[in-house]
Amino acid sequence: MTPSDPIIRLENVYTAYEGADRPTLTDISFSVGRGEFVVVGGPNGAGKTTLLETINGMLPITHGTATVCGHDVRGDGVQVRCRVGYLLQNFAFDPLTPFTVEEVVLMGRFGMIGLIRKPRKEDHEAVEKALHLLGIGDLAKRPIGKLSGGQQQKVLLAQNLARDPQVLLLDEPFSNLDMFARESINKLLSRLVASGIAVVIVSHAFDDLPDCRVRVVVMHDGRISLDRECLPADVGQVIRHAGSAPCYA
Ligand SMILES: Nc1ncnc2c1ncn2[C@@H]1O[C@H](COP(=O)(O)OP(=O)(O)OP(=O)(O)O)[C@@H](O)[C@H]1O
Ligand SMILES: [Mg+2]
Repeated sequence: MTPSDPIIRLENVYTAYEGADRPTLTDISFSVGRGEFVVVGGPNGAGKTTLLETINGMLPITHGTATVCGHDVRGDGVQVRCRVGYLLQNFAFDPLTPFTVEEVVLMGRFGMIGLIRKPRKEDHEAVEKALHLLGIGDLAKRPIGKLSGGQQQKVLLAQNLARDPQVLLLDEPFSNLDMFARESINKLLSRLVASGIAVVIVSHAFDDLPDCRVRVVVMHDGRISLDRECLPADVGQVIRHAGSAPCYA
């Protein structure tokens, strides 16, 4: 792979859930380069989460090719997931989950730690750095299940950052966050994008997006109906307009 090759590359991809009589994603061609910030919009049920799960190698691709960092999503899912941070939509921990915040963030490193050896100094340092980036160092020893929804969301973001990902897939990361947290996470995302990480974010909140070049991808009924660059301030308008007049590419 050369630095100019796309980090994510999907060509004519169809994805079907098990037992479904038709694919949920239809003929998706979509490439994302290093340092790109992509906002995926579209109505409920359009296939946005399915797109992220497809990129992360979690769903059966029935047709087409998909690679992340040059690794085949279908054949080499483990290599793909080592390089991808994926923040799930609406994930909440059971109140009795028996792990502290720092243990949950450390789990983000398990792909690198392996199942048999103890965490190393650099793993602990990565955890500390990720907690600091999210401004939640003071929560490190707290049980994860006893935190608020927004605090848990920050912990999960820290868990993903602790992996040193090359790609961040974020499914509605702002849904539980207050205004101040949204602003500071946007600043963090701008810095990550500037450092070359590719960010694909599904969001219905367009008011405060990172101050960087934004690419908008709009989905309808499992297809990409619009894919263009715009200013962060125009994202909401572009998505709203695409929603009123879908035209399939
Ligand atoms: N596990 C599943 N099994 C079968 N069908 C599913 C499954 N998950 C989602 N779907 C279907 O796939 C389609 C796309 O769902 P998806 O969750 O990707 O939508 P979305 O755009 O993320 O919506 P939202 O904005 O509500 O999060 C929907 O019709 C949904 O019913
Ligand atoms: Mg979704």
